[in-house]
Order: sequence, then C-alpha cells, then structure tokens
Amino acid sequence: SLVFQVDETLCPFKLSQEQLQLVKARMRAGLEAGLKTKGSSAIKMLPSYVYRTPDGTEHGKYLALDLGGTNFRAMMVNFKRQNARLYHKIYTIPLEIMQGTGEELFDHIAQCVSDFLDYMGMKNAHLPAGFTFSFPCEQTAIDTGTLVSWTKGYKATDCEGHDVVSMLREAIKRRNEFDLDIVAVVNDTVGTMMSCAYEDPQCEIGLIAGTGTNVCYMEEVDAELSKMCINTEWGGLGDDGSLDDIITPYDMEVNQNSINPGRQRFEKLTSGMYLGEIVRQVLLDLTRGGLLFRGHVTETLKTPGIFETKYLSQIERWEKLCVRSILQQLGLKGTCDDSIIVKEVCGAVSRRAAQLCGAGMAAVVDKIRENRGLDHLNITVGVDGALYKLHPHFSRVLKDTTEVLAPQCNVTFLPSEEGSGKGAALISAVARQMHADSL
Ligand code: BG6
Ligand code: GLC
Repeated sequence: SLVFQVDETLCPFKLSQEQLQLVKARMRAGLEAGLKTKGSSAIKMLPSYVYRTPDGTEHGKYLALDLGGTNFRAMMVNFKRQNARLYHKIYTIPLEIMQGTGEELFDHIAQCVSDFLDYMGMKNAHLPAGFTFSFPCEQTAIDTGTLVSWTKGYKATDCEGHDVVSMLREAIKRRNEFDLDIVAVVNDTVGTMMSCAYEDPQCEIGLIAGTGTNVCYMEEVDAELSKMCINTEWGGLGDDGSLDDIITPYDMEVNQNSINPGRQRFEKLTSGMYLGEIVRQVLLDLTRGGLLFRGHVTETLKTPGIFETKYLSQIERWEKLCVRSILQQLGLKGTCDDSIIVKEVCGAVSRRAAQLCGAGMAAVVDKIRENRGLDHLNITVGVDGALYKLHPHFSRVLKDTTEVLAPQCNVTFLPSEEGSGKGAALISAVARQMHADSL
C-alpha cells in the first residue's frame, strides 16, 4: 500500500537507540582526536583564547559585528553594573557578495558598519569592537583568526588562509572615513555562550542550530585546571567517513550538489541550510515512484533551495489545509494525501537532525563531566539559530535525546536573547581588561 511504501522510504531516517549511542561515541572520539592532533582531524577543536565567562564587572561601550548566520548584524552594547543596553541593525548579505571576492565582501561589511555608525550618530567614537565571524578560524590570539575554510553558503575568494581581522581593518582603511579598534574575533558559538553566561553562570557550552551547526565548551587545558573555550566545529564529524553507515542516498545527493562536497557531513544532516534540500530529494524520489503529486515531477520540485527552513517549520507546525496552501505557494499543487506525506517527510528529516545533535551534545556534556571527575554534572547550554528557535519540535527532541544518552548530566538549554553580539562585546571587554592589567 501507499502508506507502507512511504514508510519504507523514510525508514533510513529512523535511528535506533543503538545507532544514536554509536553517533555519541564517534562524536566523543572525534573531539578527543581533534584535541590531540592539531588541524588534521575531522573535528577541528579550535582554541578561542577566551579563558573565562563574564563576571559582571564588564563595563563600557562596545561595537559588535556579527557575520555568518542568516543576516549580518551591527550592534552597540553599553554595559553598566550587570546591565546591558543594546542597539542593533540588521543587514542582508546578497549571494553575489557571499560568493564574490574577499575584498568585495569586507568592503560590504565596512559599508554596513559605516551606515550603522551614522544611524547611531557615533562616526567619531572610535569604539572597541568585537567581530563574530561564524566560520572555522585558526587563532593564535584573541584578535587574530585565519580562516581555515568557508562553510555554509560562503565562498568569497582570497580569504581562506588569511587573517579575517586584517581583512576587515584593511577594508575600513580603504573607506578612510571612520576608525574601529577590533579587539576580538569570536565564533558565534563562543559569542552565544558568553552572552548566555552573562545571565546564567552555569552556562559553559554554546550551541548553534541554524543555517549551520556547531558547539563550543569550556575545556580544561592544563593540570592547574585553567580553562579555555574550544570551538569544536563539530559539523565536520563524518568527513573521514565515520558517519557513512547512517548517510542515506538523499544525503549523498545533497552533499554532491553543495558548494563543499565531502565536507561538513554532520552539518549537512543537521542544519537549516540542508534539511529542506534533503526533504526535496525525498519528495523527488517519491514523486518519481508515483507515490506523490500523481507522479508528476514539476520544475519547481527540481529547483534547489525551494524548501527553506522556515517552510519546514511551518509545514510541521500547521494543519493539513495549511500545508496544502504552503505547497501551493511553492508551486506544488497536491491533494490532501500529498500534504500528509510531505509533512511526514519533513518530520522524519528534522527529527533525525535533532536526535543527531542530541547525540553530539551527550558526548560533549559527558566529556566535561569526566574532565572534572564528577558522577553528576549540572550544566547550561546557551543556544541560538533559527532551527532551534523556530522549529516546533527540534528543541524538545534535542533535549530528550541528550537526556537519554547522557543520564549522568542535567542539561538546561537556554535560548540566547540578543544573539552572539552581546557575547562578542563581553569578550572585547574582558580582552581590554586583560590588556590594561598587563600594562
Ligand atoms: C544569531 C547570532 O542570532 O544566530 C549569530 O547572533 C548566529 O551569531 C546565528 O550565527 C545563527 O542562526 P541562523 O539561523 O541565523 O544561522
Ligand atoms: C558552520 C561554521 C561554524 C559556525 C556554524 C554555525 O558550521 O563552520 O563556525 O559556528 O556554522 O553558524
């Protein structure tokens, strides 16, 4: 029957407890391998030069720039006695800028900053700034970061292997119109962790479930129990083949059609940029098999990118009739049965994503627990990203899976309120303080 055949197609997306345990174990092994071998493993484990979470003594005005999520954001933060005032503006980065030259990209950012400073009336303020740059960077200090490789939708030329802080400084110099003192470059996970730690001191992990996926956490770096935040870049799990047994033919198709085939395999199973594409591949297959849309493969269905994450969230949130109208908006005319099937496909794909993130998170919290020689760990995870915040089931499945796979940890997920910018500003404040202390 129809139901049976659809179920059969979705079967490879249903992961058993045993499979999830295996993913947890592989994540754990990947984290350890990344800490041991500098740079050559699937999971990069990049040092952030952030040694502690905020303590409430941070003060002053800071600028924060936030590149790499859905939008670019410029923000001004003013810290006063455990209180932060924020002003921000959102800018879109057009595809041709993401995928043009590095110079064009950084000129565009400098132009957005210029606009923001005008808007704030602070062109001459010469503020200290924190730069959230949400891509893997090899850091040797808090204020330098060499881009290892672009991820997600970016592929601007002449950036990989270069210091992104210098590139931003040069773009600002080229404008010759305002001055900034860039004191920190920060991954979005690290900014999110810091931002949430300002509210909750138990927050020692940052998670992004958005366009891409990634985690950072406070790692014990030496025997004296001094800590440093490590940007795991866990999206790279599986780049050495370690996830091949759970990767479906649909995932393979998505990977092949992406701008970075063979890379970020875990990210391609779990994040917003790819889930809609996986769904589309399944729908194509079902349609070709005559199980959907009366077997009629339309141009729309053949168009990459039509299923944005927001549609996925909408389809799973709403009732049958609404699913039909969303499909119609997308140019996919379907029957009631078609709507039910589409919703089921979305559910299977997003559920697997949340379970995989939960398995990864279980590995991270158990590692922290063991690092500290504890039988039981209470910890908070600061979270951001449209998939986490807008999807109707993702956050619950993530939490449940983490709970089942890491029973010795009590994990609280805390959504970040104002994005990672506040965290980048806090890090700038700490960096300036450390600099002042050493003078
Ligand atoms: C934002 C953070 O709110 O969330 C960014 O400020 C982060 O730093 C982003 O990159 C991630 O979510 P998305 O869904 O925009 O990729
Ligand atoms: C990608 C980037 C990573 C970032 C994540 C979430 O995985 O490589 O640096 O944190 O997306 O935005």
